[in-house]
Amino acid sequence: MRNAICQTLKKHLKSTSMLAMNYRGPFRVRIDHKPMPEILHPEDAIVRVTRSCICGSDLHLYHGLVPDTRVGSTFGHEFIGVIEEIGSEVTEVKVGDHVLVPFNIACGKCAFCKQGLYGNCHESNPQATAVGGIYGYSHTAGGFDGGQAEYVRVPYANFGPTVIPPDMDPDDAVLLTDVLPTGYQAAEMGGIKPGDTVVVFGAGPVGIMAAKCSWLFGAGRVIVIDHIDYRLDFVRSYAHCEAYNFREIGDVVLFLKKITDWLGADVCIDAVGGDAAGNAMQTITGRKLLLQAGSATALHWAINGVKKGGIVSIVGVYGPTDNLVPIGNVVNKGLTIRANQASVKRLLPRLIEHVQAGRLNPKAIITHRVPLEEVADAYHIFSAKRDNCIKTVLLPSAK
Ligand SMILES: NC(=O)c1ccc[n+]([C@@H]2O[C@H](COP(=O)([O-])OP(=O)(O)OC[C@H]3O[C@@H](n4cnc5c(N)ncnc54)[C@H](O)[C@@H]3O)[C@@H](O)[C@H]2O)c1
Ligand SMILES: [Zn+2]
Ligand SMILES: [Zn+2]
Repeated sequence: MRNAICQTLKKHLKSTSMLAMNYRGPFRVRIDHKPMPEILHPEDAIVRVTRSCICGSDLHLYHGLVPDTRVGSTFGHEFIGVIEEIGSEVTEVKVGDHVLVPFNIACGKCAFCKQGLYGNCHESNPQATAVGGIYGYSHTAGGFDGGQAEYVRVPYANFGPTVIPPDMDPDDAVLLTDVLPTGYQAAEMGGIKPGDTVVVFGAGPVGIMAAKCSWLFGAGRVIVIDHIDYRLDFVRSYAHCEAYNFREIGDVVLFLKKITDWLGADVCIDAVGGDAAGNAMQTITGRKLLLQAGSATALHWAINGVKKGGIVSIVGVYGPTDNLVPIGNVVNKGLTIRANQASVKRLLPRLIEHVQAGRLNPKAIITHRVPLEEVADAYHIFSAKRDNCIKTVLLPSAK
């Protein structure tokens, strides 16, 4: 009874504003008061966020690489929370449920969703012809506000939000919204056969998960390339793989050939995307002058470092415009290129099982826990790869 009265009072006294990360332009974000999100469609839910993460994908926005990233928007596509309110047609979740919310906004019913391509939903981002809706990922991904906030509007609530198993650590749950499924899908798209040599470019959260998951698909050898030593050290012990600093090995492609009997890797995974370092021409044209949709350095290395007939799996994110990539080598080597945004909802059942069985331990990559109020510092540290940062969780303090 007392609880019910409290709830009613809380509802009446409900504030009309909340704290949320607010994008002010490249390299500038701050915490701000923003209006509380509202139910706009009968299938919407409002989620009170209990944890959100900063992702390498957010860095592309933060660095100004993604077109139509509007000042005033709130980022955050990796979040979990409690259902606070539901629209009149929501039947699959109820108020009070603890849910993890896949980063893809998907209707679950269109032709693409029916194929399990939840990252390419045709309904959630109808102005686009490529990507579906993504929380907090610019107007090119639908213009939805994200979860680096106290509350967030969740469309298609009958499909996306997934109730977190009661025995699951919330830190594992939040990494199931993107990082683990993306790493897993990167390995899956690599078509890894037993004994294959897999090279993963990038030792960020996604590359770390891709390396770890490659073993699940039967890889015989896993090699990770990055230039940040603390990340290379981490991935070596977490994913039991070889790891090399590209600034210390000279010509990366030649190095990969040398250590693979001059054949190249069976599978190369690009877990870097448009913020890649390592090639001055790519960096200047892709990241500084924005003449291409980010720097394609890791993708070059992947295409040139894979063996003839091999597979290149791309999960690294590039902008929607053009990139300079060695397409001639793709043709002449007979490569298969597979790429996509991860289809989180499709992968959740098997990944929840892997986590519950202890085969995958995603929460081990979390290095920073920061109050939401300090989101500006958190972005700076993650972007500059300072303080041994691998993965940052933002915690709304009011809860
Ligand atoms: N496809 C998807 O569904 C999906 C989902 C999540 C993230 N992503 C993308 O995956 C990529 C990685 O995300 P993250 O969170 O791990 O990012 P991150 O920024 O934490 O990590 C990227 C890593 O790549 C390294 N790097 C830079 N240049 C490199 C190069 N030339 N070769 C090898 N490594 C290089 C960096 O030092 C860094 O450690 C990003 O592009 C992100 O947008 C894609
Ligand atoms: Zn992400
Ligand atoms: Zn759809």
